[in-house]
Amino acid sequence: MGIRMDDDGWFKPAPGDRTRGETGGLLGPSWSWLTTKSGMFTPVSTAFLAAFSPWSDCRPPGSHLNPLLKGHSPSTMNNTESPESTDYRQSHVHRGRNYDGNLAADPFDSYMSDLERRHLQRIVPRIFPAGVERYLDFACGTARITHTVAPYARQAFGVDVSPSMLLEARKRCPDVQFIEADLTQGGLHLGTFDLATAFRFFGNAQPALRVQVLKALADVVKPAGYLIINNHRNPQSLASLLHRATGGKMEMDLSHFSMRRLLAEHGFRLVECHPIGAWLYRHKMMGHARTIDDRILRRERLFGHAALAPIAPDTILVARRVA
Ligand SMILES: C[S@@+](CC[C@H](N)C(=O)[O-])C[C@H]1O[C@@H](n2cnc3c(N)ncnc32)[C@H](O)[C@@H]1O
Repeated sequence: MGIRMDDDGWFKPAPGDRTRGETGGLLGPSWSWLTTKSGMFTPVSTAFLAAFSPWSDCRPPGSHLNPLLKGHSPSTMNNTESPESTDYRQSHVHRGRNYDGNLAADPFDSYMSDLERRHLQRIVPRIFPAGVERYLDFACGTARITHTVAPYARQAFGVDVSPSMLLEARKRCPDVQFIEADLTQGGLHLGTFDLATAFRFFGNAQPALRVQVLKALADVVKPAGYLIINNHRNPQSLASLLHRATGGKMEMDLSHFSMRRLLAEHGFRLVECHPIGAWLYRHKMMGHARTIDDRILRRERLFGHAALAPIAPDTILVARRVA
């Protein structure tokens, strides 16, 4: 019988997933059994599992303990986000002035940003046809997302720990109330919200901070209210898997399945997924500047099915707080 690797290791089956893997045992440490619900099983190498299993987090053992090891895939991160400290809270303290410019200068960051905006402009009025009563943009940064969502809200708030990011946010959205605070430390009484967003946050934050933030958000999102987030650092995107399989470094650590599980563990039920860029299967393709025209939008629609979220480099997840 093989030994199943634990939840924080290389191999991570999500609850209810159809296929399970076991490593070691009769096959030795570098081989695993892959078993399906129908009872079929086959030996596979653990290297293959680590690279291609949709349940694997593809992260070097122990890397989650040290965010400095996270590094960044050039295709999904620009230098506005490389962590300089072990606590992601400190990452953007002085980055406000250059954040938007750096995002715009990186072809894939600007591609994701444009598509995220287009998605939100469809999602928010659809789920809130009468408008949002109270909206919170958590880790709002320079108000990139606040600026898109606040027009649908009667009351909008942005919260961030970085004064330099908030300085830019206030210029961009003068009607929004921005607060320099860390929701995870308590003591901030803003009331509850019908909608909260958190973008470009979970993929970057260290695991303990992800959990603290989800707990804090579960306290402020009303029962049956919505939380819309993204995960733009999926280590299992096709491009990342291919990059890794051809010798590239893989240091991102938040798979779609892990993000989904974190939401569920904190009382958020996933109701929609909108993958972005699932058709960009090679790392190199992300370095090309693209105008978002009809042809690109057709491609995004074609590869925009929720089933492709596990292999997309960026996904918008719409979750609902369990009532
Ligand atoms: C990459 S920026 C994202 C900004 C914006 N949401 C966007 O999508 O452009 C991440 C932001 O998270 C903020 N942040 C990190 N930890 C935080 C915390 N505990 N509470 C509030 N903001 C935090 C940082 O200061 C930074 O502005």
